[in-house]
Amino acid sequence: MYLGLDLGTSGLKGLLVSHDGTPVGEASAHYGVQQPHAGWSEQDPKVWVDALSQVLKNLRIDHAAEFAALRGLSFSGQMHGAVCLDDTGTPLRPCILWNDTRSAQQAAELDRMQGQRDISGNITFPGFTAPKLRWMQDNEPDLFAMVHKVLLPKDYLSFHLTGRYVTDMSDAAGTSWLDVGARRWSKALLAAGNMRLDQMPDLVEGCDVIGTPLPQICAEYGLSPTVQVVAGGADNAVAACGTGTVSQGQGFVSLGTSGVLLAARDSYAPDAATAVHTFCHAIPDRWYQMGVILSATDSMNWLARTLNSTPEQLAELVVRDISGPSHITFLPYLSGERTPHNDADIGGAFIGLRAHSTPADMTQAVMEGVGYALRDCLNALRKTGADLEQLLAIGGGTKSAFWLNSIATILNLDLVLPDKGGFGGALGAARLAMLADGADIKSALARPKIQETIKPTDALISAYDTGYQRFAKLYPSIKEL
Ligand code: XUL
Repeated sequence: MYLGLDLGTSGLKGLLVSHDGTPVGEASAHYGVQQPHAGWSEQDPKVWVDALSQVLKNLRIDHAAEFAALRGLSFSGQMHGAVCLDDTGTPLRPCILWNDTRSAQQAAELDRMQGQRDISGNITFPGFTAPKLRWMQDNEPDLFAMVHKVLLPKDYLSFHLTGRYVTDMSDAAGTSWLDVGARRWSKALLAAGNMRLDQMPDLVEGCDVIGTPLPQICAEYGLSPTVQVVAGGADNAVAACGTGTVSQGQGFVSLGTSGVLLAARDSYAPDAATAVHTFCHAIPDRWYQMGVILSATDSMNWLARTLNSTPEQLAELVVRDISGPSHITFLPYLSGERTPHNDADIGGAFIGLRAHSTPADMTQAVMEGVGYALRDCLNALRKTGADLEQLLAIGGGTKSAFWLNSIATILNLDLVLPDKGGFGGALGAARLAMLADGADIKSALARPKIQETIKPTDALISAYDTGYQRFAKLYPSIKEL
């Protein structure tokens, strides 16, 4: 039995799987994001530990026999967050999350430094970890001086369980301190960020064992002292393991808080100028590339809050089949944008509102706007040489058939919906624990069974193409304003 723990932005999910990777039980716990100032986004690492404790407790109660038979556990984690610890291992401040844009200026400064893009393979985006530490240096110098270690979010949980400071390649790749091609910390990048090697956790691959739970942890959670705690990886890399997206030509689109269009790569082929991310995969000798948009389901959450509704209620306002683009165009830049614009300052917009526009029209426009932004990502990925013929569709947003139909048509690609699509990250994490326990990569990281294939609606491809051209013209105009 193996346990995958998916530490997301809005909650922690635990999934128990049997020795052959079949899901047998799950539990989850939810938490919020603190936004004390515009552009800030923080979480107290303590809420993750509380969520872990609740998930482990519920799994132990509801699936006692399986829980007792656990051989290993691993993680999928929200990326880029800076968990800064003092020399006793205590967080110095709340974690600054991946969608926090306060360090835009520091990111731009780092990004301009020589070698930064060549070594890290990426633009240094404001959400990445290195600029956050530069921001602390400028704004919280006393805390900065006390930073003993910087962990990524999921690493705080493995530290809590084992007492060891370890991260994995896929998560380290999003810090801007890693030489992503060579898979090691870069002294030059650390120096540029005014950081030291001894402040970094040990680096391992996502399927490597970190250790076993500390005695007090075994006593508190009822874990066996022989359970292997396995490093795990960054959420998108681990979701790629969960969906068997590990070889060239395979890809997925993820509709979570952020939106991701990911392509697995057999070799390291960065092209930072496209604003595509090139990161280490969670398994050795593999990389992946992805376009990231910052507000996918988050755009729906925003609209629902604004209209005093829920995302589920709004999704019911649009019918399953699509009939052509909305008269409204939505730009989903509510938290700025990464691919392709690398612009923390740009805001979202509704263009073309009429007196007769309804909440249903606005919902349609939001879903289409996210689809158009994903097409920007697809274009950028294609520039790097990543070729994709179909995409698995995962994440909470895939519950809406309308959204899937419009994205398939906007991208002009088949979307395939995996059976149990909601398990991507947690399943991928459990699969990493299986690999660490000796499972064979090919069978452990198999592609999932397909539930449904969503084809582009041929008759509407050209109308959505026109809609996309209009969308693409809006960014430069709004930027100028
Ligand atoms: C990837 C990214 C997001 C977060 C969301 O670069 O920032 O996908 O990992 O959890």
